[in-house]
Amino acid sequence: MQTTYQMFVETTVPSDELIVSRTDLSGKITYANETFAQISGYEVDELIGKPHNIVRHPDMPHSVFKTLWETLQRGEMWKGYVKNLRKDGGYYWVYAEVSGVYKDGVLIEYKSLRVPMDEETKVKMQRTYDEKCEQEEHKSRVVVYLQSDLVHKVETLAREKACSSDKIINDILGDTLF
Ligand SMILES: Cc1cc2nc3c(=O)[nH]c(=O)nc-3n(C[C@H](O)[C@H](O)[C@H](O)COP(=O)(O)O)c2cc1C
Repeated sequence: MQTTYQMFVETTVPSDELIVSRTDLSGKITYANETFAQISGYEVDELIGKPHNIVRHPDMPHSVFKTLWETLQRGEMWKGYVKNLRKDGGYYWVYAEVSGVYKDGVLIEYKSLRVPMDEETKVKMQRTYDEKCEQEEHKSRVVVYLQSDLVHKVETLAREKACSSDKIINDILGDTLF
């Protein structure tokens, strides 16, 4: 169970800032600008060498990234809206353009430029991605208020079984109620 309030806190990208990163062909970060570090809550050094999914947010449907990689592999630019995860568990939204970096006609890296997006689009995209997660992965994001003793029970079970609290709730409802 996610017990940090940070996951509901948004960091907004200032309108005059550009988030820049480059990756090798497998998606490992080779360059990150200072703005990327600041907005994601990491140090530049912590980002270099890490797979770009270090900032992957669980609200993002898998199919979005599948399309991203398929588009890049066709040699085309991918454009889209991405909700990213900060180091502290918070999030930030960006409009991103991802494309190849060529040297003497040979693909050597990928690069991404990201800018802020307006509030209306964030709401629209959150709904779109929620629906995609539900349709494609049968997964929904739910916030519930439980009595404290139930929360402690779930957390104790999760510790005992070395799994997430989400899995405990899923298993209990899946096995006994239906
Ligand atoms: C240049 C470049 C930039 C990327 N930027 C992001 C990003 O900002 N956020 C993100 O979640 N994935 C980004 N990706 C996609 C990730 O490599 C990865 O496919 C995605 O996070 C999904 O992770 P998964 O394949 O482990 O599920 C980027 C990929 C490339 C090539």
